[in-house]
Amino acid sequence: MRHAILKKRAEMVDVIIDHYKRARGLRNFPKRIVADVVGLMFPHSNFEGRGFFKEVHSVRSRARKLVLKLSHAKSTRRDWRVYQRLPAGIRNRYFAKIYWHTKYCSLQKYGKKVSVPKLEVEKLRMCVRKYGLRDIRADNVRKVEGRFKIVDANPS
Ligand SMILES: Nc1ncnc2c1ncn2[C@@H]1O[C@H](COP(=O)(O)OP(=O)(O)O)[C@@H](O)[C@H]1O
Ligand SMILES: [Mg+2]
Repeated sequence: MRHAILKKRAEMVDVIIDHYKRARGLRNFPKRIVADVVGLMFPHSNFEGRGFFKEVHSVRSRARKLVLKLSHAKSTRRDWRVYQRLPAGIRNRYFAKIYWHTKYCSLQKYGKKVSVPKLEVEKLRMCVRKYGLRDIRADNVRKVEGRFKIVDANPS
């Protein structure tokens, strides 16, 4: 498996979050502590952004920059399924590669924040719509290894 050391640490993030939830008797995902737990397990991480569901931190694996995306278990599973909806042969052409996920974390290729031309968003939207991927907008597109790619989508 790629980035196995990062996965071990992500699994520890899961354990800490579950422990905290149990100790506090929480039902919901404890968003407030996520940044601290990631900072603890990934000392060189940086906050990259957040959307409605996820909190995103960049992490390093040797020379490569990656992102660790955290959200509640159902959303993490759903993101993995959405990515898997694209056929294996074209998946990584349109979607920033997701290496693996744990209960609360997924690891994805880092994408640069650049302004995304409307036409590029439209092209990506057209390419993935037949696979049932929705919500392709500039916010969910970044530049990965020189190409515009989707970093987040919804299932239809
Ligand atoms: N692969 C990535 N590389 C760099 N930043 C990212 C990446 N994916 C997401 N982000 C940043 O994190 C934000 C939220 O991530 P996103 O996957 O869209 O989560 P949500 O489901 O909450 O919308 C994005 O708007 C973007 O700023
Ligand atoms: Mg998003």
